[in-house]
Formats: sequence, structure tokens, C-alpha cells
Amino acid sequence: MDVICAIGDVRDRVRAARDEGRRVGFVPTMGALHEGHLSLVRRAAGDGCFVAASIYVNPSQFAAGEDLARYPRTLESDLARCRAEGVGLVFVPSDETMYGAAHATWVEVGEVTAGLCGAWRPGHFRGVATIVAKLFNVVQPDVAYFGRKDFQQLVTIRRMAADLDMPVEVVGCPTVRDADGLALSSRNAYLSPAERARALAIPAVLREADGRWRGGERRPGGLVAGLRERLASAVDSIDYFGVYHPETLAPADEAAPPGGNPVVALAARVGRTRLIDNVQLGIDPPPSSAT
Ligand code: PAJ
Repeated sequence: MDVICAIGDVRDRVRAARDEGRRVGFVPTMGALHEGHLSLVRRAAGDGCFVAASIYVNPSQFAAGEDLARYPRTLESDLARCRAEGVGLVFVPSDETMYGAAHATWVEVGEVTAGLCGAWRPGHFRGVATIVAKLFNVVQPDVAYFGRKDFQQLVTIRRMAADLDMPVEVVGCPTVRDADGLALSSRNAYLSPAERARALAIPAVLREADGRWRGGERRPGGLVAGLRERLASAVDSIDYFGVYHPETLAPADEAAPPGGNPVVALAARVGRTRLIDNVQLGIDPPPSSAT
């Protein structure tokens, strides 16, 4: 496995893989790797790709006052895990490599970034779209893998790739959860045991909404009735909780029920930790839950 810091060296390695007839599969990450990240790597390898990963905590997607400084950094064990999964190259750029002093170009994806996390984290998706566009230009993958855990991010990257005619296939992969139902996240490391117990209300309300859908409920209001209150009694605050269209992320209401299989998505704060989760009704497996 090659661990590479320079853009030119990434391009050389990817070109060599392609010359051998390999498809190039790309998994961008911010490190602190867990089974959720590794599921993306395994999917890429399972698809027969030469797997390129990146580990870069992208400052431009963190607002002032967010957790950039304390974001977990575990590079040596991350690299060991990538090596064990048969990753071909890991791109580990410095801030200077990704954002030179004169950097002045930003990718703004409209509409789908307006609500949900976009409303609570101004500039977040601009930072995400910009770094992912740059990483796509460095790696030039045939296919890129993203988790459905970050549903709005996946929708945003799909929109960007389509709108900017990027020659990359964007694949969304299922959310990996712990046995108690909590979606794996690098930020779970911030939770105390008591906070973690309270956070289990998150998979519990998603499982309840999913159960109502499977029971035949189709009215958005009926899918989530009473669940915001149930969530609010466990967590410290709720940024958003609702039923959304799976492609536009427009909020569903009784007047305009969503087409297809809607997404129930939420962001909630437990102590100092902000957690997000979602379930696409009738498509994702129901989140298990101890509560
Ligand atoms: P990060 O939070 O490290 O996540 C990297 C990838 O892993 C994302 O596609 C994310 O959706 C996926 N992932 C995280 N937790 C998961 C889980 N429990 N199950 C399945 N997939 C999961 O997302 C980012 O980094 C950054 O915004 C990035 C795209 C790298 C741009 O900086």
C-alpha cells in the first residue's frame, strides 16, 4: 500500500493501476476509521476496483466553534486498517497541499444544501463539495463510495457530479450500526457512557418510523407523530427531525406527500456532541435498538 502526500504521485499511481486494466474506486474520509468507513473500502474492493482512499480532516467544512481542533486523529491505526483491507493507495495531504495561500475557488451546490444540516452548519456543504471536487480531480476515480449515514452529503455529491459533468459514478452504501443500533461515527468517541445511552433514542425513533411505514402508514405526519417529543426527552436539543424527499430533500408535508421512499432524518445534540442519522423508509434495514 502506498501512502502518498503529493498530488503528482497519486496521479502516477492511479495511472499505473489503470494501465493494468483496473477500475479505480475512491473512498474519501477524514480518518478515525471505523467499520462504517471500512464497509466502503470492502465494497470498492468487492467491485473489483483498485482502491484509493484519502484521509484528510478538511478545515473548510468546519465552522468556527465546531470540533475541528478536537476531531479524532488516529493516522497510524487508520493506515494499518487500510493495509489490512487491501487498499492500494492512501492520499494523506497537508493543508498546504489542498489549500494554497491563494486558494479562491469554491463549489456551491444549491437547493439540496439549503435545509437539514445545511441550515444549521452554514458553509459546511460548500467545504464538503469543494474538497470532494478537488479530491476527484486529484484521484480521477471511475467510481466513488459514500455512506448513506451522511444522506445529505451523498445527495449533494451526486448533484455536484451530475451538474459539473464529472466522469465519476457515485455509489451510496448502507449505514453500519453498532449492536445497540447507534450508527457508527467518529464523533461517537466524544460520548460518555451516560450520553451514549441517551443517544439510543435516535435509532429507536427511526426504527419506530420505519415500522409505521412497513405497517402501511404513508402520511408524513403519521410516520413521525409523537416521535420528536420522544427524542426530545432523551437528547439535549434537536436541530431538525422530519420526513424528506429522497432526492430533493424537500420537507414532506400532508399537502405534498413525498414521492418514492422518503427519508426520515435528524440531527440532535447529546452533551457537546452533534449526531446525525437517517433511514430511507422501506429501503434501509430498520435500525435495531435496545430501547
Ligand atoms: P467521514 O465522516 O470520515 O466519512 C467518510 C465516509 O464514511 C463518508 O462517505 C461517510 O458517509 C461514511 N460513513 C461514516 N459513517 C458511516 C457509517 N456508520 N456507515 C456507513 N458509512 C459511513 O464524510 C466525510 O468524512 C467528509 O465529509 C468527506 C466526504 C471525507 C469530505 O471531507
